[in-house]
Amino acid sequence: MEHTDNGSKVLTSINLGFGRISEITMAALFAGALLLSPANIVAQSAAPPGQATPPPMDIKGKTASQYYKNVKVLKDIPAIDIHPAMEYIMVGLGVGCAYCHDVRHFDNDDKPQKKTARNMIQMTFALNSTIFDNQLRVTCFTCHRGQPLPSASPVLSPEKGPEGLAPAGTYASVVVPGIALSSSMAPEKASASATTAPAGAPAVAKAPPVALPSVDEIFAKYTQALGSAEALAKASTIVQKGTVEMALPPAPGTPPGPPTIGHPAAESDRKAPDKVLLTIDLPGKPSKEGYDGSTSWLQAAFSRENTGGEKAVAQEGAEFIPGLKFRDNHSRLKADSIEKVGDREAYRVSGFRSDGSGFDRVYFDTQTGLLVRTVTYMNSVLGSFPIENDFEDYRPVSGIQIPYTNRFISPEGNRIFKWEQVQVNAPVDDAIFVRPPQPPPPPPPPAK
Ligand code: HEC
Ligand code: HEC
Repeated sequence: MEHTDNGSKVLTSINLGFGRISEITMAALFAGALLLSPANIVAQSAAPPGQATPPPMDIKGKTASQYYKNVKVLKDIPAIDIHPAMEYIMVGLGVGCAYCHDVRHFDNDDKPQKKTARNMIQMTFALNSTIFDNQLRVTCFTCHRGQPLPSASPVLSPEKGPEGLAPAGTYASVVVPGIALSSSMAPEKASASATTAPAGAPAVAKAPPVALPSVDEIFAKYTQALGSAEALAKASTIVQKGTVEMALPPAPGTPPGPPTIGHPAAESDRKAPDKVLLTIDLPGKPSKEGYDGSTSWLQAAFSRENTGGEKAVAQEGAEFIPGLKFRDNHSRLKADSIEKVGDREAYRVSGFRSDGSGFDRVYFDTQTGLLVRTVTYMNSVLGSFPIENDFEDYRPVSGIQIPYTNRFISPEGNRIFKWEQVQVNAPVDDAIFVRPPQPPPPPPPPAK
C-alpha cells in the first residue's frame, strides 16, 4: 500500500494459501546478498536527491509511469501490474531480479540485460499487436523456455484452455501505441496450426472413452465426501502445524551460496470465509504470508503487498475449504477429462474466472470425490504461468476431511507441507491476518 515499505521493490512473490518465498532464494542467489540500504527505498520514490522524503504514495489508481521512476515501455499499464510482470519475466527467463537490476536501484538502467529486456518487451508487444491481432500469443517464455538465452528453435506452448485457448490467449493483452510491424506480415487465418501441440505432447482435449459425471454431480459428491453438512457449517477455523520441505534462502549474515533443501516448521491458520496466514520458521527470521480478506501481503526479510495477478492467486488460495466455491466464482464450467493425479484418477473441471482474467482447474478423485488438485494461473501483462496445489492424505478432524499433505508446485520453486497437528475451530484472532504495520520511511540519502 505505502510506497515506502522496505523491500517492496526487491521481493515479489505469490501469496497463496500454501505459497512460496523462493524468490527470496532467487534474489539472494543473483544479488549475492539481500542487502537493502535506505537508498533503495528513496531511489524508488519520486523525491529528487537531497529533498525531504515525500509522503507515502498510494499505488492504487496510478499508472506505472506515475508511480515508478523509469518505466518507459510499460508506462501506461496500472502500477499494480508491474510486479506481476517482473515475476513473469523471472520465471520466463529463469533468472533472479538482479540479472537485470541493481536491487538497490531498480530504476537504474546500467545493466545491459535490462536494456535488452526493454527491447524484448517492445518486440513482444509488436509481434502480438501486429501479427496476432492484439492477443497475447507470443510471450518471453515462448522463446526463452525458462532460460536467459533461448534455443534457436522456439516452440509454442502446447497447454490448452477449456475452449482450446492457450492460457496466454485468455488474458487481455496490452497494446502499446506506436509499436507495430508491417501488417502485411499478419497470417491470414493460419494461427491455429501455429499453436497446435508438438508431436508427443499429451492430447489434453480428447474426449475420454467413459462418460463423465456432470459438474453438479462432481461438486455434490465433493461436498458430501468432505463431511456432514452440520460439521462443515460449524467449522470456522483450521489450524495446521507441521513442516515444509523447500529450498531455504541463506540465513541473514551468512555468505551467499546455493539454496539448500530444508524442513523448517510451518503453520497455516485459516478462518472462514477467506482469511489465511502461513508462517514458515526460516533460519534467522520467520516468513509470513497473509490475506485478511482484502489485502494480500508478505513479510520476511522484506515486506510488500501483493498486487494484480499475484493478488488474484492469493484470493483463490485463501478459500476456507479449497475448491468448494469454484462454481460461484467461475463460469462456463465443464467436466472435461479424467486425468492421473499421483496414483489416483481424477475428474478435471475447468472454468473461466468471473472477472474474465483467465481460467482455473480443479480435480476430484473419481473414487473418494475429494479435491486432489487445483491449477491456477499467475497472470501478468507479459504472460502467465501455472501454479498447482495437490492435496493428499485426507483424514477426518472434527467431522471434516482435511488433507495432511499439501504439495505446492510452481516454476518458482516447490514446497511440500506435511501437517502433524490439525485443529478445527481452535480460537484464531482476526488480527493475525492483517499486514503488520510498516516502519516509517528512513531519512533521504545525502545529495550526490
Ligand atoms: C530480464 C530483465 C529483468 C528482470 C529479471 C527483472 N526486471 Fe524489473 N525491469 C526490467 C525492465 C526492462 C524494466 C523497465 C520496463 C520499462 O521500461 O517499461 C523494469 C522495471 C522494474 C521496476 C520499475 C523501476 C522504476 O522505478 O522505474 C521495478 C520496481 C522492477 N523492475 C522490479 C523487479 C523485480 C522485483 C524483479 C524480480 C522479481 C525484476 N524487476 C526482474 C527488467 C527486468
Ligand atoms: C521471438 C523470440 C523471443 C521472445 C518472444 C523474447 N526473446 Fe529475449 N531473446 C531472444 C533471443 C534469440 C535472445 C538471444 C540473443 C543473442 O543471442 O544475442 C534473447 C535474449 C534476451 C536477453 C539477453 C540475455 C543475455 O543474457 O544476454 C534478455 C534479458 C531477454 N532476451 C529478455 C526477454 C524478455 C523479458 C522477453 C519477454 C518480454 C523476451 N526476451 C522475449 C528471443 C526472444
